[in-house]
Amino acid sequence: MTEISEDKSAKGSSIKVPPELENDDFSRYMADRMSQLEERNHLLREQNHKIEAEKRYAESQKLKFERELRQLKSELERLKTSPLIVGTVMDVLENGKLIVRSSTGPQFVVGLSKFIRESELEAGIQVAMNQQTLAVIGVLPASRSHLIRGVEVIESPEVEYSQIGGLDDQIRELREAVELPLTKPEAFEKIGIDPPNGVLLYGPPGTGKTMLAKAVAHHTSTNFLRVVGSELVQKYIGEGSRMVRELFKLAKDKSPSIIFIDELDSIAAKRYDGATAGDREVQRTLMQLLAEMDGFNPRGDVRLLAATNRLDILDAAMLRPGRFDRFIEVPMPNESARMNILKIHTRNMALSQDIDFVKLAKITEGSSGSELKAIATEAGMFAIRNSEECVTNAHLHSAVAKVLTHKERSVNVSETMFV
Ligand SMILES: Nc1ncnc2c1ncn2[C@@H]1O[C@H](COP(=O)(O)OP(=O)(O)O)[C@@H](O)[C@H]1O
Ligand SMILES: [Mg+2]
Repeated sequence: MTEISEDKSAKGSSIKVPPELENDDFSRYMADRMSQLEERNHLLREQNHKIEAEKRYAESQKLKFERELRQLKSELERLKTSPLIVGTVMDVLENGKLIVRSSTGPQFVVGLSKFIRESELEAGIQVAMNQQTLAVIGVLPASRSHLIRGVEVIESPEVEYSQIGGLDDQIRELREAVELPLTKPEAFEKIGIDPPNGVLLYGPPGTGKTMLAKAVAHHTSTNFLRVVGSELVQKYIGEGSRMVRELFKLAKDKSPSIIFIDELDSIAAKRYDGATAGDREVQRTLMQLLAEMDGFNPRGDVRLLAATNRLDILDAAMLRPGRFDRFIEVPMPNESARMNILKIHTRNMALSQDIDFVKLAKITEGSSGSELKAIATEAGMFAIRNSEECVTNAHLHSAVAKVLTHKERSVNVSETMFV
């Protein structure tokens, strides 16, 4: 015992046995000391555990960051690779070569990657090409929506017949020509006539032509493919007609469907001699459209609907029976129609009791549906500006004055502009 104590004291440790301690006391002291040390040992072991857990965590974090680093590096690589050129296959040659047209115009004979199956290749498909060698590296998916940019596929637009004022006859005619062939094809078969091939809505701007087309689509629960005519006018030769072709193909894939070409006059204006290259491209697009209209099965599930503000400038070929054979005029609203339209557009507004719709319809002589809508909105703005609870007759009258004087001014401007 003394040896230990001497040993310890020699090392200068904290265990220093006071010489006056009895043997008994000493052993008690040692036991005490031992339990103290055990406790400390326990503590240190716990700390060790904790630190090891921390280490494990840090290691897993490290792995995570390394993975992230790799990902970012490969992303960086991906961003740095040179772009591929989009081209169209014109012809597939015997010896594993292709004739492609690059998107800039000229045609090339190029090789192709071994990973492309021959069966995938056919004239007309789009491919990705290497920038330097123009070798075909991949076939682009035939996602039509990419090919025909600008076509809106509206599953079912939110316009109902009840939101259209004063066009009851037009709605009836349109339903006969577009809805019936889709919902009751057998009726046409029984009588032995072909349903109208295409329906053309014509009339001044803002009278509800686009709205009518949307309402038809809503009520027939068909797909509604809307394309604005000017979208079909493309920069490169052949693009416009390809878009027309793709549009009809898409319509067939999505049938039953309605193709709606808005502002038809932008591609179907009269053809004339001595046109520029740009005009000739528009004419090619028109010819493709005519061909498609002749080609598709009239009892099929695709209906064609078009709208124009300018019936007078449309090409005669477009207007002959067999192409558009149903013309629906959408006129400027008459007095009772104007009243209806005003009521429709003020339906959800907080109105005062004093509103005289009869008078309003009288003083809005010559306004289109869209102007009447503007009047309703403007009246609402007046009420908000004066922080009033509801829209009054006076608000509506000021709105009429505002919208109609604005209209007069713009008419004057446009008249002088083209002199
Ligand atoms: N007959 C109508 N009934 C109700 N609203 C109409 C009517 N005509 C036009 N409008 C309003 O004018 C807006 C523009 O009409 P639109 O159908 O686009 O005219 P466009 O004949 O030029 O295609 C519509 O969104 C609608 O709010
Ligand atoms: Mg329109």
